Amino acid sequence: MPSFVATPVRAILGAPKPYQLLYARKVTIPGILCLLRPARRFNSSAPSDRTKAFFPPPSAPHIKQVETAWVHPVYTTEQMRAVAVGHRDAKTWSDRAALGTVRVLRWGMDRVSGYRHPKPGQEHKAKFQMNERKWLTRFIFLESVAGVPGMVGGMLRHLRSLRGLKRDNGWIETLLEEAYNERMHLLTFLKLAKPGLFMRLLVLGAQGVFFNGFFLSYLISPRTCHRFVGYLEEEAVLTYTRAIQDLETGKLPEWEKTEAPEIAVQYWKMPEGNRTMRDLLLYVRADEAKHREVNHTLGNLNQASDPNPYAAMYKDPTKPHPEKGLTHVKTSGWERDEVI
Ligand SMILES: [Fe+2]
Ligand SMILES: [Fe+2]
Repeated sequence: MPSFVATPVRAILGAPKPYQLLYARKVTIPGILCLLRPARRFNSSAPSDRTKAFFPPPSAPHIKQVETAWVHPVYTTEQMRAVAVGHRDAKTWSDRAALGTVRVLRWGMDRVSGYRHPKPGQEHKAKFQMNERKWLTRFIFLESVAGVPGMVGGMLRHLRSLRGLKRDNGWIETLLEEAYNERMHLLTFLKLAKPGLFMRLLVLGAQGVFFNGFFLSYLISPRTCHRFVGYLEEEAVLTYTRAIQDLETGKLPEWEKTEAPEIAVQYWKMPEGNRTMRDLLLYVRADEAKHREVNHTLGNLNQASDPNPYAAMYKDPTKPHPEKGLTHVKTSGWERDEVI
């Protein structure tokens, strides 16, 4: 399986330069994915005929652009730099089931995508080397899956509120916003690479399995599902931390001169001078850290009756409490007695 996945990628990378460019522009051969022009910014309001964007903006004559309902909070560089890899100990059988499932999925994903993290001293071996294309393949696949849980959780809570004729207490918006945020990660990376036929089939299959699996699991135990997403996001923070380390240690030279796509600049409100690929990865990692905190917190609550701490107004606002930005990041989430 790994060699089958990697073959089209290697074929592209090994091709003579003019062919690589042709491939990148026309994308006529099915494969995993091919990189779009590096250091090229797609401006959503000014489509170019030089390179067609993967999903060009709609050409509606009276519409300038489409606004989002979920405005992203502003992160500072210091806050994003402070984000760290972390782990919440599994305390209950439900936690252990969630953690075990994430570990099995991570193992399977690493096998399929050919990703292996080296042990100390083995970093130089070829089988552990990642490049820009391999990272993007991994990001695109993972982000296409990451957008599922929030939408399923939000949808099921929405339906429960409708059929139960009762309030939801603010969970739905946070869950749907998480799904939207993950989709923005996906759309951003799709501005840098175009998936081939095989990758599209993988995404399709993964969504079919994961959506249904998560849907059924959420009906049975939403608490375990939020814990599962918390652990999944721990892995996402780890993945982006390793990518940032690769970039900062000179292993990804193409990304050193790559600008963040316009869609990302607008979404994260990236300030002038902080719009590199490295900045982009810092923003995405910070989002994943926020999802990690939100889902571990939701996993600590009474699913049926507790209000959403991220949509709450607190009686004492001076006391640290959950919020959308990165002012207080809790790796293992807020405990119930801290917030309810
Ligand atoms: Fe993500
Ligand atoms: Fe995430």
